[in-house]
Amino acid sequence: MKHKMLTAAVLAGFCLACGARELQKNAMVWYDTNGHVINAHGGGVLEYGGKYYLYGEHKVYGQAGCRAHVGVHIYSSGNLKDWQDEGIALKVSDDPNSDIADGCVMERPKIIHCAKTGKFVMYFHLERTSHLDYSDGRVGIAVSDTPAGPYRFVRSQKPTPGTYPVNAPEDEKTPEALERSRADVAKVPHYGESEEMKAALIYPAFVEGGQDSRDMTLFVDDDGTAYLIHSSEFNSTLHFSELTDDYLDFTGRWWRGRSKDWTEGAAVCKKGDWYYLVGSWCTGWDPNQARYYRARSITGPWERMGDPCRGVNPHNGLGPELTWGAQSNFILKVSDDEYIAMFDIWRPWNQVDSRLVWLPVRFGDGEMEIEWRD
Ligand code: GAL
Repeated sequence: MKHKMLTAAVLAGFCLACGARELQKNAMVWYDTNGHVINAHGGGVLEYGGKYYLYGEHKVYGQAGCRAHVGVHIYSSGNLKDWQDEGIALKVSDDPNSDIADGCVMERPKIIHCAKTGKFVMYFHLERTSHLDYSDGRVGIAVSDTPAGPYRFVRSQKPTPGTYPVNAPEDEKTPEALERSRADVAKVPHYGESEEMKAALIYPAFVEGGQDSRDMTLFVDDDGTAYLIHSSEFNSTLHFSELTDDYLDFTGRWWRGRSKDWTEGAAVCKKGDWYYLVGSWCTGWDPNQARYYRARSITGPWERMGDPCRGVNPHNGLGPELTWGAQSNFILKVSDDEYIAMFDIWRPWNQVDSRLVWLPVRFGDGEMEIEWRD
């Protein structure tokens, strides 16, 4: 039976490739122009030279899909619907000593184009194979001359070593604060929302070596300045870290978003005079309720708004209370009036079968809504 269903699905893909191509349907399997299942998760879309580039984590079957065994997969399209396979843009390495060795965690890749250098720059969340418990918290950086790659791995690091956030109060930059922070890091439970964690002073302990970075996204502001926006302080607080003008490093200018709000899956866009950030809580691969923030400047302050999601995913019966079973990931600006919010329905027991959900965003003045549609 299973076999028959699989055959039907594959045939459907080939039929789609042969002619009457339909729209890709949310939460369903998406096929590329060769009739193969699109394999790009937790990524995003880059628009360049009149084409769109869809990129994301290439997942393999079963639980092994929770680790990177292939790399970052790219597809291109002229219409956001028919996706042509462009292959693996950044491959994991066969060298077990490489930071991106086969079996590492390589998640949420994001690609931006640097107008100054003409290069395409990729950042991703990296956990080296020595840290498969997610205690590494690094970003990987890769670069390419063309949007679809191949990308050359540059290095991995923790963001912003040696610098305090620009919005740090003076009394958090003292030797006493550093001592307190080290003691807090040693004693509080690192993950999950807790009273101890809320009261703890985390970031000063990591000023010297750099701040941790897990779920992450990139955002390029109107003036061309790019930022890495990453879940830091054991995922409790978003950090906004400015990139150098070649996008390959950090300037050292960074600030903390809302302290201890436990946001993952950050997706950022600007519409009119407002910046918006959609995010999830921190429940691993399990879905939770989304919320959004708004600000008049990328530097904040970020005001927490409600849940932007509306409607029910008919395939699993889940509504906004669990973000239709999905998690926020990226917002693509198609035009001044058209934005697409992108989500992932994760299947950690078989990640290759995780599904994409793309929905239009409706904006009011300073407000956003994202309603389920098939
Ligand atoms: C999620 C995160 C994913 C992945 C997962 C691992 O919270 O959004 O990108 O890191 O945890 O459990």
